[in-house]
Amino acid sequence: MSQLRSVIRGCGAYLPERILTNQDLAKLIDTTDQWITERTGIKQRHIAAEGELTSAMGTAAARQALKHAGIDAQDIDLIVLATSTPDQTFPATAVTIQAELGITHGAAFDLQAVCSGFVFALTTADNFLKGGQFKRALVIGAEAFSRILDWQDRSTCVLFGDGAGAVVVEAQMLNGAATDRGILATCLRSDGRYRDKLFVDGGPSSTGTVGHVRMDGPEVFRHAVTKISEVIDATLAQAGHKASDIDWFVPHQANKRILDGAAKKLGLDPERIIVTVDKHANTSAASIPLALSTACGDGRIKQGDLVLMEAMGGGFTWGAVLIRW
Ligand code: ACO
Repeated sequence: MSQLRSVIRGCGAYLPERILTNQDLAKLIDTTDQWITERTGIKQRHIAAEGELTSAMGTAAARQALKHAGIDAQDIDLIVLATSTPDQTFPATAVTIQAELGITHGAAFDLQAVCSGFVFALTTADNFLKGGQFKRALVIGAEAFSRILDWQDRSTCVLFGDGAGAVVVEAQMLNGAATDRGILATCLRSDGRYRDKLFVDGGPSSTGTVGHVRMDGPEVFRHAVTKISEVIDATLAQAGHKASDIDWFVPHQANKRILDGAAKKLGLDPERIIVTVDKHANTSAASIPLALSTACGDGRIKQGDLVLMEAMGGGFTWGAVLIRW
């Protein structure tokens, strides 16, 4: 039976010019390249320049995704931006991107699910496209995380970086066959009991300040692999697939140990995992679209491949998306 499917048409990325290596960090705080590499797999991260905004990074990634898709900005009628580091408390940073792209129709809004933001945003866009409300969406993850880091706190500041990634998603009427392109299954979860395990200690209605990232790292680590595995199983089951069918596993790039743990539980060949955490660190909502853009750009992800994404972040929030590319 024919049905609307959300098909990925193109992807794009943007990384700020400045690179901060582990060696650079070791000159600023009490840490070593060895400690960071062994615990996280991170070697370097990109840091936004002074005055470089989340909207500018998101716009750059969106432009590249549109170019890759061969689609004009005027053909986009929905923009969903996943970010925890908006330009301002309001309006939504998505409307700035919309204006920068010269789009005056359709709708644009921000979505906040921290590191799971891209998975939540893609699922949201998928539902709007499948429901026929919009035709073509830009789904963007963009973060200036360096602005909310406490650069004196070595347990958090070494983990994160800045950047943006974007995909163009289009509603297409397809046959409803298992081999059809598009988003096949999505699964989102959250559990607010864990909201104090990873949070920012400021906000408009509490302190009136922006605040800094605070994290109970070992506790996040303890939950990550189990929760991620559960949601992956649910997503694969929804689509009638098994782990061995996956061509590419594109996890949120938080920590090499977490993503290896999840892949091992799935029984996946390490060659099938897209890893960018070494070069980008954890860019929160931007990490999955940055990894997608890397793997599409170098020819690993190809049309027809089965791609599984997953993420977990503050809240806790977690989720997975299965796509026939
Ligand atoms: N350099 C050197 N030493 C450090 C650093 C650092 N940058 N940071 C902490 N340490 C020290 C601690 O002070 C502690 O010292 P002590 O034993 O003398 O007290 C020691 O290292 C061990 O600290 P732990 O926090 O127990 O280290 P752990 O092995 O758990 O590793 C880490 C910390 C990497 C944060 C780990 O807990 C982790 O990966 N957690 C997952 C969190 C994560 O990835 N969050 C990202 C956001 S959430 C998400 O995206 C899923």
